[in-house]
Amino acid sequence: MEVIIVPGPNDVAVLAADIVARLIQQRPDAVLGLATGSSPLGLYAELARRAATTLDTTRVSGFALDEYVGLDPAHPQSYASVIRTQVTEPLGLDPARVQVPPGDATDLERSCAEFEQAIREAGGVDLQILGLGGNGHIGFNEPTSSFSSRTRIKTLAPATRRDNARFFPAPDDVPTHCVTQGLGTIMDATTVLLLAAGPAKADALAKAVEGPVAALCPASILQHHRRAIVLVDEEAAAGLALADYYRYAYANKPEWQRS
Ligand code: GLP
Repeated sequence: MEVIIVPGPNDVAVLAADIVARLIQQRPDAVLGLATGSSPLGLYAELARRAATTLDTTRVSGFALDEYVGLDPAHPQSYASVIRTQVTEPLGLDPARVQVPPGDATDLERSCAEFEQAIREAGGVDLQILGLGGNGHIGFNEPTSSFSSRTRIKTLAPATRRDNARFFPAPDDVPTHCVTQGLGTIMDATTVLLLAAGPAKADALAKAVEGPVAALCPASILQHHRRAIVLVDEEAAAGLALADYYRYAYANKPEWQRS
């Protein structure tokens, strides 16, 4: 794991955009794994600025991490809508190259298998962007999710429904189920980029990075990933015991490791 600590959320957004933009420049048909939630919004806004000027995103593909079950894709809080309005349109991606796991299919199990197949046919995800749930989830892989899980239906944890109630008119409007890429699916990405900012993430982040690898904290599986970048601000890093070491390692990172 490479842990990079920067002062604030804006620095997270800019450095994350540098990492994603470098990949797209090296590989114009890059396949991105796309997280929703508030954590990557600054990254997407920064990428949109670059796409409007210097960055060619027209051949980039994207696979969203997750979706609510039972929301019409046109519902403003469906992740299909969120990905379209926050990512596909502002970044100028080709909508035909962006897929969200369907949450309204009549045969969800089959559509989850087809989503996995689509990722395989695209050659796999080059870079998976991740946020971190307050309970340690990534995607919607709630605590005790199997480390080898693939895209499937999950029951949302009450804590997650409470966290996400801010996006809905009333708490009971938050769906009870979702479809999410599995932890095994996420671990197949060549690089994972976990973003976190703010004090509400400090506890989950410390468990994910420095705690035992345990299904109670699904993000801890990233300790086993061969190329995981954890990019966080000072507030989110507040619980890290080895924060000084991470700062030292990043400050002394050799130039050849930076590309
Ligand atoms: C949401 C999403 C995740 C997201 C996480 C954190 O429920 N399903 O993909 O990363 O929870 O959200 P936020 O970034 O808004 O804190």
